Amino acid sequence: MVFRLACGTLALLGTAHAYVWPSPQLDALEALRFDQVGFNTIGITLTSFVQPCNLFLFDPTINPNSGRSDAADWIRTAYHDAATHNIRDGTGGMDGSIRLVAEQARAENAGNGFSNTMGIVLAVVNRYVSNADAIALGALIAIETCGGPEIAFRGGRVDAALPNTPGVPLPQQDLNSHIAIFARQGFTQTEMIGLVACGHTFGGVQHSFFPNIVNVLADSTSTDNVAHFDSTPVSFDNNVAAEYIAGTTKNPLVVGFNDTTNSDKRIFGSDGNATMRSFANSPDHFASTCANLFARMLDTVPRGVELTEVIKPLPVKPASINLVMNGDTLELTGLVRLWNTTQAAAPTVSLLWHDHVGHTGNTTLNFISTSSSTGGKYSATWYGFNSTVFGNMPLLLNPVDGVTGLSFVVNGVLENQGGLGFAVQDAFMLSQTSCQGGVPYAGRVDVAVRNGVHPTRVYLEQVVTDSVQRISITEVDMTPPLHPVAVNSAYSLWSMNLTDGGMIFTIGAEIHGIKYSTTEQLSFFEFATAC
Ligand code: HEM
Ligand SMILES: *[C@@H]1O[C@H](CO)[C@@H](O)[C@H](O)[C@H]1NC(C)=O
Ligand SMILES: *[C@@H]1O[C@H](CO)[C@@H](O)[C@H](O)[C@H]1NC(C)=O
Ligand SMILES: *[C@@H]1O[C@H](CO)[C@@H](O)[C@H](O)[C@H]1NC(C)=O
Ligand SMILES: *[C@@H]1O[C@H](CO)[C@@H](O)[C@H](O)[C@H]1NC(C)=O
Ligand SMILES: *[C@@H]1O[C@H](CO)[C@@H](O)[C@H](O)[C@H]1NC(C)=O
Ligand SMILES: *[C@@H]1O[C@H](CO)[C@@H](O)[C@H](O)[C@H]1NC(C)=O
Repeated sequence: MVFRLACGTLALLGTAHAYVWPSPQLDALEALRFDQVGFNTIGITLTSFVQPCNLFLFDPTINPNSGRSDAADWIRTAYHDAATHNIRDGTGGMDGSIRLVAEQARAENAGNGFSNTMGIVLAVVNRYVSNADAIALGALIAIETCGGPEIAFRGGRVDAALPNTPGVPLPQQDLNSHIAIFARQGFTQTEMIGLVACGHTFGGVQHSFFPNIVNVLADSTSTDNVAHFDSTPVSFDNNVAAEYIAGTTKNPLVVGFNDTTNSDKRIFGSDGNATMRSFANSPDHFASTCANLFARMLDTVPRGVELTEVIKPLPVKPASINLVMNGDTLELTGLVRLWNTTQAAAPTVSLLWHDHVGHTGNTTLNFISTSSSTGGKYSATWYGFNSTVFGNMPLLLNPVDGVTGLSFVVNGVLENQGGLGFAVQDAFMLSQTSCQGGVPYAGRVDVAVRNGVHPTRVYLEQVVTDSVQRISITEVDMTPPLHPVAVNSAYSLWSMNLTDGGMIFTIGAEIHGIKYSTTEQLSFFEFATAC
């Protein structure tokens, strides 16, 4: 699949435009957020690390009695990334700076929950998903998967290279300091009570890092000696408030032996218990308040960062679209996901493809599998473009006609993004003549370019990670062919010999000043032919 990645297009992402496929960044973020369990969950799925919700990957025995959980760590990590924000000067916030060892080493970030979190959630970082977006998604998925409300998610956080100014609250600070710190982050006193209660429905305080708060050792219910904030520490519920109001709470920041560090007690009681009582009285009010506060916390970004619109699931979404030129055949592989449908009621789906000569081809698609997300609240069905007993085979198209776009007919209803269609670019693609081996080269990459397109550049894109885990793209230009080699009557080859056999790349091209990019990750190992 070839995407439009123009400078102009990028500039539009931050504005209030409705999400139209293809949009590489939104497509990637939408998939991470909504394709969580089951088919096509794209390599790593964050949900599998918070399911069951008491899963704690860093206990040597993955002991369900450790008292800790990945879910609680991920939520605290997002809060400590956000909590450095200064609303007046626009610095700090969700910029992934909590991943930096220098920031983790601060007293205000005591504990190993941050490094534990980084080891997992940063595995989903790629050219379209920043470290900060991954941290935000981790917290959101933990909350939603473990009984919490659905949280509006925006993407586009930008990773900081340096630690932020310190400013995460400490339990021994007094109430006025906490009110001032939350005000600096942009939250009122009432919102502070809410945000602390919403966070402290998960997890607890560990003895090893806070021995002056938790002095209990050899706790039979928690081998890591964690004193939990409420009796249900791996699920989102209003018990943190209900137990506090009932006077039965064991929250170590409310009834801790040292009153100096009883920060939750001071915060929860700071409005005469009005906010906590409203939470205790209504699980729904607690959930909706937390959904809003969590969304605002995750959207706390440094000034100048423009987040995307709230990402909603596309009702009909093409995925894993790939074009390959195989001699006289243009091979189109792909999937389509139908949101909020089940296998039992699997719709009837046809794919229509539109070409350069004004024809429309059509084929009936076969159901492949299902996926689900948001704690099982939603399910989706997936169909292959040419799904046969042999698997999901390519559709075999005529390269002269090519393909310009797709639409679908679902239970008799035309789905084409309100008339826009689902655009597909066939200007350039990998050619099956690409080969591996042939010392001194690791192989040769052949790119089939549509005659008449005249790209100014064709290049390979490589993902580069800098010393602080920020991702960027390096472009390795191909030399334009002196004497074009025809691959068929509609396409000619650009070629490049490469020495690095381990290279993983996508293909890019610049056409009339606009950059396009394929999504399929390629490597020499996949090339069937020897050079
Ligand atoms: C005045 C504000 C706050 C103070 C003083 C505070 C203090 C603490 C302390 C001392 C711990 C124990 C950490 C450990 O043992 O590793 C903790 C845990 C936690 N905090 Fe807070 N917190 C505050 C606000 C928040 C907020 C606003 C959130 C989220 C919205 C949050 C989420 C969490 C979570 C989820 C844990 C459990 C971590 C785990 O069990 O691994 N906290 N907090
Ligand atoms: C209570 O906590 C404060 C702040 O951490 C500490 O300075 C003080 O020594 C503690 N008191 C007791 C009795 O542990
Ligand atoms: C708030 O609730 C707690 C727990 O029930 C109680 O100890 C405290 O006295 C209450 N504070 C006020 C101001 O009512
Ligand atoms: C999902 O589908 C069900 C059944 O068709 C429908 O009632 C429900 O409103 C849908 N949910 C969403 C969020 O679209
Ligand atoms: C699909 O193609 C067949 C011929 O192959 C044609 O009869 C039919 O009208 C087409 N359907 C649509 C929706 O274009
Ligand atoms: C689907 O794949 C099979 C196996 O490669 C092929 O024979 C068939 O022509 C393909 N169908 C279409 C519509 O391209
Ligand atoms: C790749 O290397 C081979 C063998 O040295 C050479 O014949 C060919 O011209 C090279 N191709 C390109 C595009 O540089």
